[in-house]
Amino acid sequence: MALYALASAKGSPGTTVTGMALAAVWPTDPVLADLDSSGGDLAWRCRTPDGEPIDTERGLLSLGASVRRGAHEVALEEHLQEISGGVRVLAGLRSAAQVAGLGAAWGQLPTVFKSFGDDVLADCGRVVPGSATLPLLHHADAVLFVVRPSIEGVAHLRDRLTSLREQIDLGGVEGPPVGVAAVTSYRDTRSVPDLQQLLDSEGLQVRVLGVVADDARTADALRGVGYARSRRSLLIRSAADIAGRLIDLAQSRFAPVQ
Ligand SMILES: Nc1ncnc2c1ncn2[C@@H]1O[C@H](COP(=O)(O)OP(=O)(O)O)[C@@H](O)[C@H]1O
Ligand SMILES: [Mg+2]
Repeated sequence: MALYALASAKGSPGTTVTGMALAAVWPTDPVLADLDSSGGDLAWRCRTPDGEPIDTERGLLSLGASVRRGAHEVALEEHLQEISGGVRVLAGLRSAAQVAGLGAAWGQLPTVFKSFGDDVLADCGRVVPGSATLPLLHHADAVLFVVRPSIEGVAHLRDRLTSLREQIDLGGVEGPPVGVAAVTSYRDTRSVPDLQQLLDSEGLQVRVLGVVADDARTADALRGVGYARSRRSLLIRSAADIAGRLIDLAQSRFAPVQ
């Protein structure tokens, strides 16, 4: 099925929280994969449905070992764990040494994910030129950048999109379509058109998909107890809009040109 890569340019705009919210509202049953190469957060934030901690030995670490033994044998399902709320996650890595240890397996992960029966939402964390996660972005069906629409947040996003377009044709003819989600007040109606105009003026082929509501209570709830009490919150409702538009963006790539 489809592979969606979530990323940020700099700082900590809310990529992981957005990924958790998207997984909660996704129209099908997705896998949330923690691929952050500066160390995963999901395993620390989530619990199993029984309230037990996540087993960090089972996840990207064990998947990477299995990929190195021969990609055709890989069964992603064996490396997933269910978290409270029912979403299946691929637990992330704990250290930079583990990131390096995965080696060439990074390049094979897109194939593993795309041959899985369900959509995969891959939280790639902060992405810079040379990141281990670049193959994931390059082969994704759509990429979503999460940004806080501050002056510096937007400047870093613009620079990163420019360099990644050169490096992996992000938003170009060969590369995946790119969407942007702005974490800001739900009532902020300016940031989305302003951001779109700025990125257009740079000649970047990027679609600003909308707002992820700045909603600290729900963000904290997602980090702690999970999804149960968050269903009707602004954050979850705004994530549902983004999810629909991100799926449309991935599909637009295959639509015939009018
Ligand atoms: N939509 C949001 N509204 C309010 N706070 C948020 C939101 N998303 C994230 N946060 C907060 O911002 C911090 C960073 O979030 P996180 O998702 O870990 O960012 P990243 O994955 O980009 O590093 C956390 O304290 C989180 O609770
Ligand atoms: Mg994160």
